[in-house]
Amino acid sequence: MSFSQPDFFLPVPSGSLQISPVALAPEATIDAAVEPSPHNPIRFSLVIPTYNEGKNVQKIVQQLTQLLDSRIPGAYELIVVDDNSPDGTWKLAQAMMPEYPQLRVMRRVEERGLSTAVIRGWQAAQGEVLGVIDADLQHPPEVLLQLWNEIERGADLAVASRHVEGGGVSEWSIIRRFLSRGAQTLGLIILPEVIGRISDPMSGYFLVRRSCIVGRTLSPVGYKILIEVIGRGQVRWIAEAGYVFQERLEGESKVTWKQYIEYLQHLIKLRLSLWPIARLFRFGAVGLTGVFVDMILLYLLSDPSTLGLPLTRSKIIASEVAILNNFLWNDMWTFGDIARRQPGKRQRLKRFLKFNIVCLGGLILNVLLLNVFFNIFGINRYVANLLAIAIVTLWNFWVNLKLSWRVTDVE
Ligand code: GDD
Ligand code: MN
Repeated sequence: MSFSQPDFFLPVPSGSLQISPVALAPEATIDAAVEPSPHNPIRFSLVIPTYNEGKNVQKIVQQLTQLLDSRIPGAYELIVVDDNSPDGTWKLAQAMMPEYPQLRVMRRVEERGLSTAVIRGWQAAQGEVLGVIDADLQHPPEVLLQLWNEIERGADLAVASRHVEGGGVSEWSIIRRFLSRGAQTLGLIILPEVIGRISDPMSGYFLVRRSCIVGRTLSPVGYKILIEVIGRGQVRWIAEAGYVFQERLEGESKVTWKQYIEYLQHLIKLRLSLWPIARLFRFGAVGLTGVFVDMILLYLLSDPSTLGLPLTRSKIIASEVAILNNFLWNDMWTFGDIARRQPGKRQRLKRFLKFNIVCLGGLILNVLLLNVFFNIFGINRYVANLLAIAIVTLWNFWVNLKLSWRVTDVE
């Protein structure tokens, strides 16, 4: 099967929106991924999502080819992903293939939508660097080389931004400016750790290293694929390049109110999924097993009918065994996916020591809270204890996630 056959369409991926790793030469490192390797000459895959862009598609392919041929000849591919446009954009793109060997065309008939079009294009891509640009020439193609330079400098994500030096929007109405900035502010309130990382989270023009999103199931809603990449990917270094969003000359924008509603849905969906609710439930369940271990051991060690050891000594041994029990379950189950990325006895011992310190800190907090609720607020001692345990469980969860597991994960 070759690209030059005029009737060749890329097979449309289906199923989950997950990006697979590209088979690189075994000796290749991730940096080599942007260096050509004998097994896979394609370093960069640029997706161009189209819907009724019949008047623009030839121009964008010509301009991008000229630019990329001057920078990375033969090492890139352009992937037009068209949703069966009534104006036959897919046919026009397909007819260009014999003249543009780097051009591949995907014609989707079932699934529709801008962000899934981009992801399906990335799923069919061969490059270790993935990108997206609009087909309507509102994203100036020449900015692409600045974005590519940033990736070659080592950035994980290079975003074309309207809100940095050299950026701007052409004759946008006050309403559209207000809506765009309003959407950004809303995002900063709901999802600060994602929206706050870049100056133009609405941008639909960016490049990202495949390694940052490999294996992550993306589930965008609507137009904003970039917040999905930052929210679900593992993106450390983000670079930005200013661009002026051009006036559309041919065709019209497909943005309607629906996209704004979908954006809000997307923010809430990401918010909920980025709160590790499932992990928190697991952590709580493990904590319950720890309570049983603590109680049973306290009985076996200190009860007059068993060993009858002094209470404090029994409590310290029982608590430590309960902490060990909780660590093992959390390391295997609650935070297992993170722990598996940090194999080895030394790493595990480090996590266990940190877990211990956090839990002992939690114990002190527990006693303090119990006294405050009982002695100062006069709450019933058992209700006060339950309240204290609930607060300390959240403390233990969050600090352990960030300190005992996540930090070593980042290292
Ligand atoms: N395959 C496919 N399916 N492509 C689509 C669809 C779709 O349902 N809807 C839109 N597109 C394509 C258009 O053909 C165009 O190439 C690109 O996506 C952007 O669509 P526009 O309708 O022109 O959007 P816009 O110009 O109002 O906004 C764009 O620029 C903003 C600033 O970067 C979008 O990319 C926004 O996401 C972005 O925020
Ligand atoms: Mn546009």
